[in-house]
Amino acid sequence: MTSDTTVTQKIELPTREDETWWRQAAVYQIYPRSFADLNGDGIGDLRGIASRVPYLAELGIDAVWLSPFYPSALADGGYDVADYRDVDSRIGTLDDFDELVDALHAANIRVVVDIVPNHSSDQHAWFQAALAAGRGSAERARYIFREGGGERGELPPSDWESMFGGSAWTRVADGQWYLHTFATEQPDFNWDNREVRDDFLTTLRFWADRGVDGFRVDVAHLLVKDLPETLPSRMELDAMDAASGSHPLMDRDEVHDVYAEWRALFDTYDPPRTAVAEAHVSTPERRARYASALGLGQAFNFDLMGADFDAAQFRAIVTENLAQADLTGSSSTWVFSNHDATRHATRYGLPPARGTGQKAGTAWMLAGAPAGEIDLAGGVRRARAATMFLLGLPGSAYLYQGEELGLHEVGVIPGSRRQDPAYLRCADTGAWSFDGLGRDGCRVPLPWRSEGASFGFGPGESHLPQPAWFAQYSVEAEDADPDSTLNLYRHALALRHRLQSAEHLEWIETAARDVLHYRRPNGWEIVTNFGADAVALPSGRIVLATGPVTDTLPGETTVWLAP
Ligand code: GLC
Ligand code: CA
Repeated sequence: MTSDTTVTQKIELPTREDETWWRQAAVYQIYPRSFADLNGDGIGDLRGIASRVPYLAELGIDAVWLSPFYPSALADGGYDVADYRDVDSRIGTLDDFDELVDALHAANIRVVVDIVPNHSSDQHAWFQAALAAGRGSAERARYIFREGGGERGELPPSDWESMFGGSAWTRVADGQWYLHTFATEQPDFNWDNREVRDDFLTTLRFWADRGVDGFRVDVAHLLVKDLPETLPSRMELDAMDAASGSHPLMDRDEVHDVYAEWRALFDTYDPPRTAVAEAHVSTPERRARYASALGLGQAFNFDLMGADFDAAQFRAIVTENLAQADLTGSSSTWVFSNHDATRHATRYGLPPARGTGQKAGTAWMLAGAPAGEIDLAGGVRRARAATMFLLGLPGSAYLYQGEELGLHEVGVIPGSRRQDPAYLRCADTGAWSFDGLGRDGCRVPLPWRSEGASFGFGPGESHLPQPAWFAQYSVEAEDADPDSTLNLYRHALALRHRLQSAEHLEWIETAARDVLHYRRPNGWEIVTNFGADAVALPSGRIVLATGPVTDTLPGETTVWLAP
Protein backbone atom coordinates (compact mmCIF):
# COMPACT_ATOMS: atom_id res chain seq x y z
CA MET A 1 0.00 0.00 0.00
CA THR A 2 1.16 3.53 -0.56
CA SER A 3 1.39 5.86 2.40
CA ASP A 4 -0.11 9.34 2.13
CA THR A 5 3.25 10.87 1.53
CA THR A 6 4.14 8.66 -1.43
CA VAL A 7 2.76 9.51 -4.82
CA THR A 8 2.81 6.55 -7.16
CA GLN A 9 2.95 6.94 -10.88
CA LYS A 10 -0.20 5.63 -12.56
CA ILE A 11 0.74 3.03 -15.15
CA GLU A 12 -1.24 2.53 -18.32
CA LEU A 13 -1.69 -1.23 -18.40
CA PRO A 14 -3.92 -2.72 -15.74
CA THR A 15 -1.95 -4.86 -13.37
CA ARG A 16 -2.79 -8.50 -12.67
CA GLU A 17 -4.65 -7.47 -9.54
CA ASP A 18 -6.92 -5.06 -11.37
CA GLU A 19 -10.47 -6.37 -10.97
CA THR A 20 -11.77 -4.64 -14.05
CA TRP A 21 -9.19 -5.88 -16.54
CA TRP A 22 -11.83 -7.83 -18.49
CA ARG A 23 -14.11 -4.89 -19.23
CA GLN A 24 -12.21 -3.61 -22.23
CA ALA A 25 -9.76 -6.43 -22.84
CA ALA A 26 -8.56 -7.67 -26.20
CA VAL A 27 -8.97 -11.43 -25.78
CA TYR A 28 -7.24 -13.71 -28.28
CA GLN A 29 -8.78 -17.13 -28.82
CA ILE A 30 -6.35 -20.00 -29.25
CA TYR A 31 -7.56 -23.28 -30.70
CA PRO A 32 -4.79 -25.34 -29.08
CA ARG A 33 -4.66 -28.19 -31.59
CA SER A 34 -3.99 -25.74 -34.40
CA PHE A 35 -1.73 -23.06 -32.93
CA ALA A 36 1.82 -24.44 -32.61
CA ASP A 37 3.10 -28.02 -32.53
CA LEU A 38 6.33 -28.28 -30.58
CA ASN A 39 6.87 -32.04 -30.58
CA GLY A 40 6.01 -32.64 -34.22
CA ASP A 41 3.10 -35.06 -33.95
CA GLY A 42 0.94 -32.79 -36.09
CA ILE A 43 -1.19 -31.59 -33.18
CA GLY A 44 -0.68 -28.25 -31.50
CA ASP A 45 0.35 -28.47 -27.85
CA LEU A 46 0.66 -26.37 -24.70
CA ARG A 47 4.43 -26.17 -24.96
CA GLY A 48 3.95 -24.91 -28.51
CA ILE A 49 1.75 -22.12 -27.16
CA ALA A 50 4.34 -21.37 -24.45
CA SER A 51 7.01 -21.08 -27.14
CA ARG A 52 4.89 -18.36 -28.78
CA VAL A 53 4.34 -16.19 -25.71
CA PRO A 54 6.76 -13.58 -27.11
CA TYR A 55 4.60 -13.43 -30.25
CA LEU A 56 1.46 -12.94 -28.15
CA ALA A 57 3.13 -10.28 -26.05
CA GLU A 58 4.29 -8.40 -29.14
CA LEU A 59 0.82 -8.67 -30.63
CA GLY A 60 -0.42 -6.71 -27.62
CA ILE A 61 -3.41 -8.73 -26.47
CA ASP A 62 -4.58 -8.63 -22.85
CA ALA A 63 -5.75 -12.23 -22.44
CA VAL A 64 -5.86 -15.55 -24.21
CA TRP A 65 -8.88 -17.83 -24.24
CA LEU A 66 -7.89 -21.45 -24.70
CA SER A 67 -10.46 -23.64 -26.43
CA PRO A 68 -10.67 -27.11 -24.81
CA PHE A 69 -7.38 -28.91 -24.26
CA TYR A 70 -8.88 -31.59 -22.00
CA PRO A 71 -8.73 -35.33 -22.66
CA SER A 72 -11.15 -35.97 -25.50
CA ALA A 73 -11.92 -38.50 -28.19
CA LEU A 74 -12.31 -35.48 -30.50
CA ALA A 75 -15.81 -36.23 -31.69
CA ASP A 76 -16.35 -32.44 -31.64
CA GLY A 77 -12.91 -30.86 -31.71
CA GLY A 78 -12.45 -31.23 -27.94
CA TYR A 79 -15.91 -29.95 -26.97
CA ASP A 80 -16.53 -33.56 -25.97
CA VAL A 81 -14.65 -33.59 -22.67
CA ALA A 82 -13.68 -36.93 -21.11
CA ASP A 83 -12.05 -35.44 -18.00
CA TYR A 84 -12.60 -31.83 -16.98
CA ARG A 85 -9.58 -31.68 -14.70
CA ASP A 86 -6.72 -32.88 -16.87
CA VAL A 87 -4.86 -32.14 -20.10
CA ASP A 88 -5.12 -34.36 -23.18
CA SER A 89 -1.87 -36.30 -23.33
CA ARG A 90 -1.51 -35.34 -27.02
CA ILE A 91 -1.56 -31.68 -25.98
CA GLY A 92 0.56 -31.83 -22.85
CA THR A 93 0.41 -32.28 -19.10
CA LEU A 94 -0.83 -30.32 -16.12
CA ASP A 95 2.77 -29.27 -15.52
CA ASP A 96 2.89 -27.86 -19.05
CA PHE A 97 -0.33 -26.02 -18.27
CA ASP A 98 1.14 -24.47 -15.12
CA GLU A 99 4.24 -23.41 -17.03
CA LEU A 100 2.12 -21.86 -19.76
CA VAL A 101 0.05 -19.90 -17.24
CA ASP A 102 3.23 -18.66 -15.56
CA ALA A 103 4.73 -17.59 -18.87
CA LEU A 104 1.57 -15.77 -19.93
CA HIS A 105 1.21 -14.05 -16.58
CA ALA A 106 4.84 -12.99 -16.68
CA ALA A 107 4.00 -11.29 -19.98
CA ASN A 108 0.96 -9.63 -18.33
CA ILE A 109 -1.45 -11.76 -20.37
CA ARG A 110 -4.41 -13.29 -18.56
CA VAL A 111 -5.75 -16.77 -19.14
CA VAL A 112 -9.33 -17.79 -19.87
CA VAL A 113 -10.24 -21.47 -20.25
CA ASP A 114 -13.26 -23.06 -21.88
CA ILE A 115 -15.82 -24.84 -19.69
CA VAL A 116 -18.22 -27.22 -21.44
CA PRO A 117 -21.03 -27.89 -18.96
CA ASN A 118 -24.00 -28.91 -21.15
CA HIS A 119 -22.56 -32.29 -22.08
CA SER A 120 -19.57 -34.51 -21.49
CA SER A 121 -17.90 -36.96 -23.81
CA ASP A 122 -19.36 -40.45 -23.92
CA GLN A 123 -15.87 -41.48 -22.78
CA HIS A 124 -16.27 -39.58 -19.49
CA ALA A 125 -16.07 -41.89 -16.45
CA TRP A 126 -19.58 -40.85 -15.40
CA PHE A 127 -21.13 -41.76 -18.73
CA GLN A 128 -19.31 -45.09 -18.81
CA ALA A 129 -20.59 -45.73 -15.27
CA ALA A 130 -24.10 -44.76 -16.39
CA LEU A 131 -23.97 -47.32 -19.20
CA ALA A 132 -22.70 -50.02 -16.84
CA ALA A 133 -25.13 -49.31 -14.01
CA GLY A 134 -28.33 -49.66 -16.00
CA ARG A 135 -31.80 -48.11 -15.89
CA GLY A 136 -33.03 -46.33 -12.80
CA SER A 137 -29.52 -46.02 -11.31
CA ALA A 138 -27.98 -42.97 -9.63
CA GLU A 139 -25.32 -43.10 -12.35
CA ARG A 140 -27.91 -42.68 -15.11
CA ALA A 141 -29.55 -39.82 -13.22
CA ARG A 142 -26.57 -37.60 -14.01
CA TYR A 143 -27.54 -37.71 -17.69
CA ILE A 144 -30.89 -37.65 -19.48
CA PHE A 145 -32.09 -41.19 -20.15
CA ARG A 146 -35.59 -42.09 -21.36
CA GLU A 147 -37.50 -45.12 -22.55
CA GLY A 148 -38.21 -45.17 -26.27
CA GLY A 149 -41.51 -45.07 -28.08
CA GLY A 150 -43.12 -47.72 -30.23
CA GLU A 151 -44.23 -51.14 -29.08
CA ARG A 152 -40.84 -52.27 -27.83
CA GLY A 153 -39.22 -48.89 -27.17
CA GLU A 154 -37.55 -49.09 -30.57
CA LEU A 155 -38.38 -45.49 -31.50
CA PRO A 156 -36.57 -42.45 -30.07
CA PRO A 157 -38.48 -40.76 -27.22
CA SER A 158 -39.15 -37.76 -29.47
CA ASP A 159 -38.45 -36.57 -33.01
CA TRP A 160 -35.92 -33.97 -31.86
CA GLU A 161 -32.85 -33.41 -34.02
CA SER A 162 -29.32 -32.86 -32.80
CA MET A 163 -27.56 -29.62 -33.77
CA PHE A 164 -25.27 -31.63 -36.01
CA GLY A 165 -28.08 -33.51 -37.74
CA GLY A 166 -29.72 -36.84 -37.06
CA SER A 167 -31.74 -37.75 -34.00
CA ALA A 168 -30.93 -36.09 -30.67
CA TRP A 169 -31.43 -39.50 -29.03
CA THR A 170 -29.19 -42.56 -29.15
CA ARG A 171 -30.13 -46.00 -27.88
CA VAL A 172 -27.86 -47.93 -25.53
CA ALA A 173 -27.46 -51.71 -25.22
CA ASP A 174 -30.21 -52.27 -22.66
CA GLY A 175 -32.73 -50.35 -24.77
CA GLN A 176 -32.87 -46.95 -23.04
CA TRP A 177 -32.14 -43.77 -24.97
CA TYR A 178 -30.03 -40.77 -23.96
CA LEU A 179 -30.33 -37.16 -25.07
CA HIS A 180 -27.51 -35.39 -26.92
CA THR A 181 -28.11 -31.88 -28.21
CA PHE A 182 -24.91 -32.16 -30.24
CA ALA A 183 -23.04 -35.26 -31.49
CA THR A 184 -23.90 -38.79 -30.39
CA GLU A 185 -20.67 -38.77 -28.39
CA GLN A 186 -21.83 -35.72 -26.37
CA PRO A 187 -24.48 -36.90 -23.87
CA ASP A 188 -26.28 -33.99 -22.14
CA PHE A 189 -25.90 -33.73 -18.38
CA ASN A 190 -28.93 -33.55 -16.12
CA TRP A 191 -28.48 -30.20 -14.36
CA ASP A 192 -31.24 -31.01 -11.85
CA ASN A 193 -28.75 -33.43 -10.37
CA ARG A 194 -26.84 -32.01 -7.39
CA GLU A 195 -23.78 -34.17 -8.10
CA VAL A 196 -23.47 -32.60 -11.55
CA ARG A 197 -23.63 -29.11 -10.07
CA ASP A 198 -21.09 -29.90 -7.39
CA ASP A 199 -18.70 -31.52 -9.82
CA PHE A 200 -18.61 -28.40 -11.97
CA LEU A 201 -17.92 -26.27 -8.88
CA THR A 202 -14.99 -28.59 -8.21
CA THR A 203 -13.80 -28.16 -11.78
CA LEU A 204 -14.03 -24.37 -11.65
CA ARG A 205 -12.14 -24.33 -8.36
CA PHE A 206 -9.51 -26.68 -9.80
CA TRP A 207 -8.63 -24.26 -12.62
CA ALA A 208 -9.10 -21.08 -10.59
CA ASP A 209 -6.65 -22.48 -8.02
CA ARG A 210 -4.18 -23.06 -10.83
CA GLY A 211 -4.25 -19.35 -11.60
CA VAL A 212 -6.78 -19.22 -14.40
CA ASP A 213 -8.26 -15.71 -14.58
CA GLY A 214 -11.57 -16.46 -16.28
CA PHE A 215 -13.87 -18.92 -18.00
CA ARG A 216 -15.66 -19.05 -21.34
CA VAL A 217 -18.88 -20.98 -20.84
CA ASP A 218 -19.97 -23.17 -23.74
CA VAL A 219 -23.66 -23.02 -24.74
CA ALA A 220 -24.47 -21.45 -21.39
CA HIS A 221 -28.18 -21.23 -22.23
CA LEU A 222 -28.78 -24.96 -22.62
CA LEU A 223 -27.86 -26.52 -19.27
CA VAL A 224 -31.14 -26.55 -17.39
CA LYS A 225 -34.03 -28.38 -19.04
CA ASP A 226 -37.53 -29.33 -18.01
CA LEU A 227 -38.70 -32.41 -19.84
CA PRO A 228 -42.31 -33.34 -19.16
CA GLU A 229 -43.45 -36.97 -19.11
CA THR A 230 -44.91 -36.60 -22.59
CA LEU A 231 -42.31 -34.87 -24.71
CA PRO A 232 -43.41 -32.15 -27.13
CA SER A 233 -42.70 -32.75 -30.81
CA ARG A 234 -40.11 -30.78 -32.74
CA MET A 235 -42.87 -28.70 -34.31
CA GLU A 236 -44.42 -28.00 -30.93
CA LEU A 237 -41.01 -26.98 -29.58
CA ASP A 238 -40.44 -24.63 -32.50
CA ALA A 239 -43.78 -22.96 -31.82
CA MET A 240 -42.87 -22.24 -28.19
CA ASP A 241 -41.60 -18.85 -27.10
CA ALA A 242 -37.83 -19.15 -26.65
CA ALA A 243 -37.78 -15.84 -24.74
CA SER A 244 -40.35 -16.89 -22.13
CA GLY A 245 -37.84 -18.31 -19.67
CA SER A 246 -39.85 -21.52 -19.57
CA HIS A 247 -39.01 -23.19 -22.87
CA PRO A 248 -38.32 -26.87 -22.07
CA LEU A 249 -34.83 -26.92 -23.60
CA MET A 250 -33.24 -23.49 -23.61
CA ASP A 251 -32.67 -20.25 -21.78
CA ARG A 252 -34.77 -21.29 -18.79
CA ASP A 253 -34.85 -18.79 -15.95
CA GLU A 254 -33.53 -21.40 -13.49
CA VAL A 255 -30.21 -21.63 -15.35
CA HIS A 256 -29.28 -18.44 -13.55
CA ASP A 257 -29.38 -20.27 -10.21
CA VAL A 258 -26.44 -22.29 -11.52
CA TYR A 259 -24.51 -19.16 -12.46
CA ALA A 260 -25.29 -17.48 -9.14
CA GLU A 261 -23.49 -20.39 -7.47
CA TRP A 262 -20.59 -20.02 -9.88
CA ARG A 263 -20.43 -16.28 -9.20
CA ALA A 264 -20.28 -16.91 -5.45
CA LEU A 265 -17.30 -19.19 -6.10
CA PHE A 266 -15.60 -16.74 -8.48
CA ASP A 267 -15.94 -13.98 -5.89
CA THR A 268 -14.03 -15.98 -3.28
CA TYR A 269 -10.91 -15.31 -5.39
CA ASP A 270 -8.86 -12.15 -5.42
CA PRO A 271 -9.23 -10.76 -7.98
CA PRO A 272 -12.61 -12.41 -8.67
CA ARG A 273 -12.55 -14.83 -11.57
CA THR A 274 -14.42 -13.67 -14.66
CA ALA A 275 -16.66 -15.48 -17.09
CA VAL A 276 -18.19 -14.91 -20.49
CA ALA A 277 -21.27 -16.77 -21.65
CA GLU A 278 -21.78 -18.22 -25.08
CA ALA A 279 -25.55 -17.85 -25.00
CA HIS A 280 -27.53 -18.01 -28.22
CA VAL A 281 -30.73 -16.46 -26.95
CA SER A 282 -33.54 -14.67 -28.70
CA THR A 283 -33.35 -11.11 -27.39
CA PRO A 284 -30.72 -8.71 -26.01
CA GLU A 285 -32.81 -8.60 -22.83
CA ARG A 286 -32.43 -12.39 -22.40
CA ARG A 287 -28.70 -12.14 -23.09
CA ALA A 288 -28.33 -9.45 -20.44
CA ARG A 289 -29.24 -11.98 -17.74
CA TYR A 290 -26.08 -13.97 -18.47
CA ALA A 291 -24.01 -10.78 -18.33
CA SER A 292 -25.36 -9.85 -14.90
CA ALA A 293 -22.83 -9.16 -12.16
CA LEU A 294 -24.75 -11.75 -10.12
CA GLY A 295 -24.13 -14.30 -12.86
CA LEU A 296 -21.35 -14.87 -15.35
CA GLY A 297 -20.68 -11.15 -15.73
CA GLN A 298 -20.30 -10.95 -19.50
CA ALA A 299 -21.90 -12.54 -22.58
CA PHE A 300 -20.84 -12.76 -26.20
CA ASN A 301 -22.68 -10.54 -28.60
CA PHE A 302 -22.53 -12.15 -32.04
CA ASP A 303 -24.55 -9.50 -33.83
CA LEU A 304 -21.66 -8.05 -35.82
CA MET A 305 -20.84 -11.56 -37.00
CA GLY A 306 -24.21 -11.76 -38.67
CA ALA A 307 -24.13 -8.28 -40.18
CA ASP A 308 -23.25 -7.09 -43.65
CA PHE A 309 -20.27 -4.81 -44.10
CA ASP A 310 -22.74 -1.96 -43.86
CA ALA A 311 -22.68 1.33 -41.97
CA ALA A 312 -26.34 1.37 -40.97
CA GLN A 313 -26.28 -2.21 -39.66
CA PHE A 314 -23.07 -1.65 -37.72
CA ARG A 315 -24.34 1.54 -36.17
CA ALA A 316 -27.65 0.02 -35.07
CA ILE A 317 -25.89 -2.97 -33.49
CA VAL A 318 -23.33 -0.87 -31.65
CA THR A 319 -25.94 1.55 -30.34
CA GLU A 320 -28.20 -1.21 -29.10
CA ASN A 321 -25.44 -3.19 -27.41
CA LEU A 322 -23.94 -0.19 -25.65
CA ALA A 323 -27.39 0.61 -24.30
CA GLN A 324 -27.71 -2.98 -23.08
CA ALA A 325 -24.31 -2.82 -21.40
CA ASP A 326 -25.40 0.34 -19.62
CA LEU A 327 -28.44 -1.47 -18.30
CA THR A 328 -26.60 -4.54 -17.04
CA GLY A 329 -23.46 -2.84 -15.80
CA SER A 330 -21.45 -5.31 -17.85
CA SER A 331 -19.28 -4.27 -20.76
CA SER A 332 -20.03 -4.92 -24.41
CA THR A 333 -18.35 -7.68 -26.35
CA TRP A 334 -17.52 -7.71 -30.04
CA VAL A 335 -16.67 -10.70 -32.22
CA PHE A 336 -16.09 -11.19 -35.94
CA SER A 337 -14.49 -14.63 -36.00
CA ASN A 338 -14.16 -17.74 -33.87
CA HIS A 339 -13.70 -21.49 -34.25
CA ASP A 340 -17.34 -21.96 -35.28
CA ALA A 341 -17.52 -19.33 -38.00
CA THR A 342 -16.24 -18.73 -41.49
CA ARG A 343 -13.31 -16.31 -41.14
CA HIS A 344 -14.46 -12.74 -41.63
CA ALA A 345 -11.93 -11.91 -44.36
CA THR A 346 -13.69 -14.60 -46.41
CA ARG A 347 -17.23 -13.62 -45.42
CA TYR A 348 -16.54 -10.07 -46.53
CA GLY A 349 -15.21 -11.39 -49.83
CA LEU A 350 -18.31 -13.41 -50.69
CA PRO A 351 -20.34 -12.14 -53.64
CA PRO A 352 -23.27 -9.96 -52.55
CA ALA A 353 -25.90 -12.56 -53.37
CA ARG A 354 -24.49 -14.84 -50.70
CA GLY A 355 -23.16 -11.80 -48.88
CA THR A 356 -21.88 -11.39 -45.43
CA GLY A 357 -25.28 -10.94 -43.91
CA GLN A 358 -27.93 -11.75 -46.47
CA LYS A 359 -29.24 -14.19 -43.94
CA ALA A 360 -28.40 -12.21 -40.85
CA GLY A 361 -27.57 -14.43 -37.92
CA THR A 362 -26.69 -17.45 -40.01
CA ALA A 363 -24.30 -15.78 -42.40
CA TRP A 364 -21.39 -16.37 -40.06
CA MET A 365 -21.70 -20.06 -40.73
CA LEU A 366 -21.52 -19.81 -44.49
CA ALA A 367 -18.47 -21.67 -45.61
CA GLY A 368 -19.29 -22.94 -49.00
CA ALA A 369 -18.78 -20.28 -51.66
CA PRO A 370 -16.92 -21.72 -54.65
CA ALA A 371 -13.31 -20.50 -54.44
CA GLY A 372 -13.42 -18.49 -57.67
CA GLU A 373 -16.30 -16.37 -56.42
CA ILE A 374 -14.49 -14.97 -53.40
CA ASP A 375 -12.89 -11.54 -53.72
CA LEU A 376 -9.79 -12.34 -51.67
CA ALA A 377 -8.19 -8.89 -51.65
CA GLY A 378 -11.51 -7.11 -51.12
CA GLY A 379 -12.36 -9.44 -48.27
CA VAL A 380 -9.13 -8.64 -46.46
CA ARG A 381 -9.53 -4.91 -47.13
CA ARG A 382 -13.02 -4.90 -45.64
CA ALA A 383 -11.95 -7.13 -42.74
CA ARG A 384 -9.15 -4.71 -41.84
CA ALA A 385 -11.51 -1.74 -41.96
CA ALA A 386 -14.16 -3.56 -39.91
CA THR A 387 -11.72 -4.83 -37.31
CA MET A 388 -10.18 -1.41 -36.76
CA PHE A 389 -13.74 -0.06 -36.35
CA LEU A 390 -14.31 -2.78 -33.72
CA LEU A 391 -11.04 -2.26 -31.85
CA GLY A 392 -11.94 1.35 -31.16
CA LEU A 393 -15.26 0.47 -29.53
CA PRO A 394 -15.81 0.43 -25.78
CA GLY A 395 -15.90 -3.10 -24.38
CA SER A 396 -14.04 -6.36 -24.95
CA ALA A 397 -12.77 -7.43 -28.35
CA TYR A 398 -12.63 -11.19 -28.90
CA LEU A 399 -10.14 -12.06 -31.63
CA TYR A 400 -9.56 -15.47 -33.19
CA GLN A 401 -6.12 -16.86 -33.96
CA GLY A 402 -5.11 -16.12 -37.54
CA GLU A 403 -7.36 -13.11 -38.04
CA GLU A 404 -4.34 -10.94 -37.20
CA LEU A 405 -2.84 -12.34 -40.41
CA GLY A 406 -5.94 -11.52 -42.47
CA LEU A 407 -6.15 -15.26 -43.00
CA HIS A 408 -8.89 -16.61 -45.24
CA GLU A 409 -11.07 -19.63 -44.60
CA VAL A 410 -9.62 -22.78 -46.13
CA GLY A 411 -12.37 -23.90 -48.49
CA VAL A 412 -10.67 -26.90 -50.02
CA ILE A 413 -10.10 -29.79 -47.62
CA PRO A 414 -10.61 -33.36 -48.82
CA GLY A 415 -13.67 -34.90 -47.21
CA SER A 416 -11.52 -37.72 -45.87
CA ARG A 417 -9.44 -35.22 -43.88
CA ARG A 418 -12.34 -33.22 -42.44
CA GLN A 419 -13.00 -33.66 -38.72
CA ASP A 420 -16.04 -31.54 -37.87
CA PRO A 421 -19.17 -33.51 -36.92
CA ALA A 422 -21.21 -30.68 -38.42
CA TYR A 423 -19.75 -31.81 -41.76
CA LEU A 424 -19.55 -35.53 -41.12
CA ARG A 425 -23.05 -35.92 -39.75
CA CYS A 426 -24.79 -33.46 -42.02
CA ALA A 427 -23.46 -34.59 -45.36
CA ASP A 428 -26.27 -37.14 -45.48
CA THR A 429 -28.94 -35.50 -43.34
CA GLY A 430 -28.82 -31.97 -44.69
CA ALA A 431 -29.66 -30.57 -41.26
CA TRP A 432 -27.85 -27.65 -39.59
CA SER A 433 -24.85 -28.10 -41.81
CA PHE A 434 -22.79 -24.93 -41.57
CA ASP A 435 -23.49 -24.64 -45.29
CA GLY A 436 -22.30 -28.14 -45.99
CA LEU A 437 -18.59 -27.76 -45.29
CA GLY A 438 -18.45 -27.57 -41.54
CA ARG A 439 -15.99 -25.62 -39.44
CA ASP A 440 -12.63 -27.20 -40.28
CA GLY A 441 -11.78 -24.38 -42.69
CA CYS A 442 -11.16 -21.91 -39.86
CA ARG A 443 -9.32 -24.48 -37.72
CA VAL A 444 -6.41 -25.20 -40.08
CA PRO A 445 -3.07 -24.80 -38.23
CA LEU A 446 -1.48 -21.36 -38.44
CA PRO A 447 1.33 -20.59 -40.88
CA TRP A 448 4.29 -19.26 -38.93
CA ARG A 449 6.86 -19.49 -41.70
CA SER A 450 6.66 -19.13 -45.46
CA GLU A 451 8.00 -22.62 -46.11
CA GLY A 452 8.60 -25.93 -44.39
CA ALA A 453 6.53 -29.04 -43.82
CA SER A 454 3.67 -27.27 -42.06
CA PHE A 455 4.67 -23.62 -42.57
CA GLY A 456 6.39 -23.61 -39.20
CA PHE A 457 3.36 -24.91 -37.30
CA GLY A 458 5.61 -27.79 -36.29
CA PRO A 459 8.47 -29.90 -37.54
CA GLY A 460 6.09 -32.34 -39.27
CA GLU A 461 2.78 -32.42 -41.13
CA SER A 462 -0.26 -30.73 -39.62
CA HIS A 463 -3.44 -32.56 -38.62
CA LEU A 464 -5.51 -30.57 -41.14
CA PRO A 465 -3.91 -29.89 -44.53
CA GLN A 466 -2.71 -26.32 -45.19
CA PRO A 467 -3.03 -24.82 -48.68
CA ALA A 468 -0.01 -23.46 -50.61
CA TRP A 469 -1.37 -19.91 -50.40
CA PHE A 470 -0.79 -19.95 -46.62
CA ALA A 471 2.84 -18.95 -47.40
CA GLN A 472 1.90 -15.36 -48.17
CA TYR A 473 -0.09 -15.04 -44.93
CA SER A 474 2.62 -16.45 -42.69
CA VAL A 475 3.84 -14.62 -39.61
CA GLU A 476 7.30 -14.57 -41.20
CA ALA A 477 6.05 -12.91 -44.39
CA GLU A 478 3.84 -10.40 -42.60
CA ASP A 479 6.43 -9.56 -39.99
CA ALA A 480 8.67 -8.26 -42.76
CA ASP A 481 5.96 -6.15 -44.40
CA PRO A 482 5.17 -2.87 -42.62
CA ASP A 483 1.74 -2.71 -44.27
CA SER A 484 0.75 -6.27 -43.36
CA THR A 485 -2.37 -7.09 -41.41
CA LEU A 486 -0.18 -8.44 -38.60
CA ASN A 487 1.60 -5.11 -38.22
CA LEU A 488 -1.71 -3.29 -38.40
CA TYR A 489 -3.07 -5.36 -35.50
CA ARG A 490 0.11 -4.81 -33.47
CA HIS A 491 -0.07 -1.09 -34.01
CA ALA A 492 -3.78 -0.95 -33.16
CA LEU A 493 -3.52 -3.10 -30.05
CA ALA A 494 -0.68 -0.95 -28.71
CA LEU A 495 -2.69 2.24 -29.34
CA ARG A 496 -5.85 0.67 -27.92
CA HIS A 497 -4.51 0.86 -24.40
CA ARG A 498 -4.40 4.64 -24.74
CA LEU A 499 -7.68 4.90 -26.63
CA GLN A 500 -9.75 2.98 -24.07
CA SER A 501 -11.43 5.23 -21.56
CA ALA A 502 -14.94 5.51 -20.16
CA GLU A 503 -17.15 2.95 -21.91
CA HIS A 504 -19.00 5.37 -24.14
CA LEU A 505 -18.90 6.83 -27.57
CA GLU A 506 -20.50 9.74 -29.32
CA TRP A 507 -21.58 9.42 -32.96
CA ILE A 508 -20.46 12.29 -35.12
CA GLU A 509 -22.94 12.79 -37.93
CA THR A 510 -21.44 12.90 -41.39
CA ALA A 511 -22.96 13.82 -44.73
CA ALA A 512 -21.93 10.50 -46.25
CA ARG A 513 -24.40 7.68 -45.66
CA ASP A 514 -21.70 5.01 -45.81
CA VAL A 515 -19.43 6.57 -43.20
CA LEU A 516 -19.46 5.95 -39.46
CA HIS A 517 -17.56 8.36 -37.25
CA TYR A 518 -17.41 8.11 -33.46
CA ARG A 519 -15.52 9.82 -30.68
CA ARG A 520 -14.42 8.28 -27.39
CA PRO A 521 -14.61 10.33 -24.19
CA ASN A 522 -10.87 11.01 -24.19
CA GLY A 523 -11.01 12.50 -27.66
CA TRP A 524 -9.91 9.60 -29.86
CA GLU A 525 -11.93 9.32 -33.06
CA ILE A 526 -12.59 6.39 -35.36
CA VAL A 527 -13.83 6.91 -38.91
CA THR A 528 -14.83 4.05 -41.23
CA ASN A 529 -15.87 4.44 -44.83
CA PHE A 530 -18.01 1.38 -45.60
CA GLY A 531 -18.75 2.58 -49.13
CA ALA A 532 -16.77 2.11 -52.32
CA ASP A 533 -16.07 5.79 -53.06
CA ALA A 534 -13.64 8.14 -51.36
CA VAL A 535 -15.07 10.79 -49.05
CA ALA A 536 -13.67 13.92 -47.42
CA LEU A 537 -11.21 13.15 -44.66
CA PRO A 538 -12.17 14.57 -41.27
CA SER A 539 -9.53 16.82 -39.79
CA GLY A 540 -7.32 15.43 -37.06
CA ARG A 541 -4.05 13.64 -36.40
CA ILE A 542 -4.15 10.26 -38.17
CA VAL A 543 -2.32 7.63 -36.12
CA LEU A 544 -3.60 4.54 -37.88
CA ALA A 545 -5.04 3.77 -41.33
CA THR A 546 -6.07 0.44 -42.80
CA GLY A 547 -5.05 1.46 -46.32
CA PRO A 548 -3.38 4.31 -48.19
CA VAL A 549 -4.87 7.68 -47.28
CA THR A 550 -4.12 10.92 -49.11
CA ASP A 551 -6.33 13.98 -48.77
CA THR A 552 -9.46 11.83 -48.93
CA LEU A 553 -10.64 8.75 -47.06
CA PRO A 554 -10.83 5.95 -49.67
CA GLY A 555 -13.62 3.39 -49.70
CA GLU A 556 -13.48 0.44 -47.29
CA THR A 557 -10.94 2.12 -45.06
CA THR A 558 -10.75 3.03 -41.38
CA VAL A 559 -8.63 5.73 -39.76
CA TRP A 560 -7.95 6.50 -36.11
CA LEU A 561 -7.47 10.11 -35.09
CA ALA A 562 -5.68 10.86 -31.84
CA PRO A 563 -6.46 13.99 -29.82
C1 GLC B 1 -20.30 -24.38 -28.82
C2 GLC B 1 -18.90 -24.46 -29.35
C3 GLC B 1 -18.88 -25.40 -30.52
C4 GLC B 1 -19.34 -26.76 -30.07
C5 GLC B 1 -20.68 -26.69 -29.36
C6 GLC B 1 -20.94 -27.94 -28.58
O1 GLC B 1 -21.17 -23.76 -29.70
O2 GLC B 1 -18.42 -23.19 -29.65
O3 GLC B 1 -17.61 -25.48 -31.10
O4 GLC B 1 -19.43 -27.62 -31.18
O5 GLC B 1 -20.75 -25.64 -28.43
O6 GLC B 1 -20.09 -28.02 -27.47
CA1 CA C 1 2.21 -31.76 -30.70
